[in-house]
This record gives sequence, C-alpha cells and structure tokens, in this order.
Amino acid sequence: MARRQRTPRWLEAARRRGPEDARFADKPDWLARALGKAGVMPRAQAEAAIREGRVTLAGQVEREPFAPVRPGVEVRVDGQVVRLEAPVLALMFHKPAGLVVHGSDAEGVGTVFEWLYEVLPPPMRGFEWLAVGRLDRDTTGLLLFTNDERLVRHGTSPEQHLPKRYVAAVAGKPGEDALRRLREGLVLEDGPTRPAGARLRAPDVVELTLTEGRHHQVKRMLAAVGHPVWTLHREAVGGVALDVPEGAWRRLDDSEVSDGLAFTPT
Ligand code: URA
Repeated sequence: MARRQRTPRWLEAARRRGPEDARFADKPDWLARALGKAGVMPRAQAEAAIREGRVTLAGQVEREPFAPVRPGVEVRVDGQVVRLEAPVLALMFHKPAGLVVHGSDAEGVGTVFEWLYEVLPPPMRGFEWLAVGRLDRDTTGLLLFTNDERLVRHGTSPEQHLPKRYVAAVAGKPGEDALRRLREGLVLEDGPTRPAGARLRAPDVVELTLTEGRHHQVKRMLAAVGHPVWTLHREAVGGVALDVPEGAWRRLDDSEVSDGLAFTPT
C-alpha cells in the first residue's frame, strides 16, 4: 500500500500563518527547531516552553513553536536573551545492542536518545541530537549524532556514497563465490546493490563495506548469499572509525566532519 505523504509540521504552520510566511517554505528555521539546534533546549522542551508563553521573539510573546525566526531577531527564554547561532556539532556514539534508534521504544528497553541524554554533560543536553541514519536494535557500533539536519541528509543521502564498514558474524563459512557476489552486487527485493567491499576476517566473520544504506541491507545481503547474520557491528562511517567503548560518546572535531565525513555546510 502506498504511504501517504505527510505535510511537514513547519509547512502546515507557515500555511496557517498566511502568505507572508510562505517565503520561509524553502528554508525554514522555526523557533523550536532553532532553540534545539543552538543548544538552548531540546525541541520537545522548547515546544512546551513556547506554548507556556516563556519565549519572546522581538519583544513579543510567541506561542507558536513553528514561528519562523529571522536572522538577528532577539529571542528571550524566561527573560534571558539566547544566542541562536549554532555551530555544526557531531558526536560519535558506541551503540550497545538492545537500544532502538527511534523516538520511543514500545518494548521499553530504551532508545539511543534516552541513553545519550543520560550520558551527556548538562551543557550538551540542551541540543536536539539527531541520529545520522539508523542501526537495528541488535546492531552495535558507530552511530553518529548531530545538531544539524544538513549533516543528517548528507550522511544518509544515497547520492553521497559515504562508505560504511560493518563486521558480521555469520552462519556457515562464506566461500570465495559468496564474497564475489557481495563485491559485485546482487539483486535484493528493492533492487540491485552497489558494488561493495567484502573480505573474511575469520572463517565465519565478514567485513562488508557498503556505500549505500538500505533497510537491513547487510543482513539481507548476507542472507542472500546463504550466510545469515548472527551479530552485526558498525566500525566506521566515511573516514571516522569508532574509538570509544560501548555506551560512550565523544565529539568529532571539525576536520573529522569536513574530511572524515566529507561534509561542508553550505
Ligand atoms: N544493515 C543491517 O542489516 N542492519 C543494520 O543495523 C545496519 C545495516
């Protein structure tokens, strides 16, 4: 069944506010998002604060979380002026198995976002941290977070072909034929895969480097060559290799973002 396209909430709000705000439809920066991006408070808290009348825009109380924010306008929260200039920040996080990369976890085990906000120091908790792509609940390893949606788009865009390196313990012992099929590309139900890097690290451990990121792609590719995955771990994205213990995080420096992830904000 075709999925119904949802109108983004910022666009709905801009339409409600009339023609003047249609100018922001191309490049929206709305109040709650701007506060989350600048590290003032995460988006859900910002929405609540705005609705409670605690936020002013150019001296006027603003109760619409999707109100557009013009550059340079004075914004106050609880009477204090806040800066909305936001540097591009990125974190690496070593995802443990069991956590989901979703806003909520119906099974109650926990989400990566809940974990991250627990382990971050208070100044870092003001940001709205966005996951750059997804890992399955049982997958461990490198998950990137950022405060900048452009970096999320860059990291997940099928056009960027940012390499992602995985290590999978699999059933059986893949032979040269299976590795060749993984390298050359094989046909999955959603189309052919791009050529990949594939080599053995042990008789039943495959290192697979993909330049695309389709749903459950590693598991589907290895199952397609007859070697279902037992455990899966992501070691690297682009030139950024995981180097923190499970459950821990660290900030990426600017060169890791610009060179390692090949990202330049425009
Ligand atoms: N491919 C998968 O199958 N699972 C992941 O979590 C990531 C890539």
